[in-house]
Amino acid sequence: MKKLPIVVLISGRGSNLKAIIDAKDPLVDICAVISNKSQAGGLLYAKQANIKTEVLDNFKTRAEFDKALQICIDKYQPKLVVLAGFMRILSPEFVNHYQGYIINIHPSLLPAFKGLHTHKRALESKVDKHGASVHFVTEELDAGPIIIQAQVPVFPEDNEETLEARVLNEEHRIYPQAIHWFAEGRFKLNEVFLDNQLIEA
Ligand code: GRF
Repeated sequence: MKKLPIVVLISGRGSNLKAIIDAKDPLVDICAVISNKSQAGGLLYAKQANIKTEVLDNFKTRAEFDKALQICIDKYQPKLVVLAGFMRILSPEFVNHYQGYIINIHPSLLPAFKGLHTHKRALESKVDKHGASVHFVTEELDAGPIIIQAQVPVFPEDNEETLEARVLNEEHRIYPQAIHWFAEGRFKLNEVFLDNQLIEA
């Protein structure tokens, strides 16, 4: 089977990138890792694995950044763009350019706790279950169709760190899994909206 060329976008630690690299999926070719921060720890994982890295920072406007990022990504002609802790809001134009082949991992059981500080908010809300979701990226933040979720228990003695660690462990399992399914060509995005209302198939 032909390998799926992917580009991974990071901003920081890169533990999800590491999980994707370590999965050594025979169906996946990581063509490049792009960071919007030159200090992103994850760049090291890419370098250790001899994966090409690119850093894009110092752009004045979001539009300029998005344009440069799009050019940079498209050089590699990826069939899948993987956001792995990429902490930038992307413009609708950018997202639509990759419609159907851009995915993200979010540390909550979406649609619960969209946005930042999910573990803190989960603890404050006293939920007894938390987790992570991999989803297709659409114009609306953390709202695209969900591919896979992992659930973890929340214990009374948990703090942000313990809960984050438990969720992160699951992230490292489900992100390579989602990419593998994508590489196998098993997804089909199939949504119909009537007057802005999603019609379930
Ligand atoms: C992860 O929790 C991911 O779900 C979120 O940002 C964090 C990135 O962690 N989007 P890492 O850089 O992959 O270690």
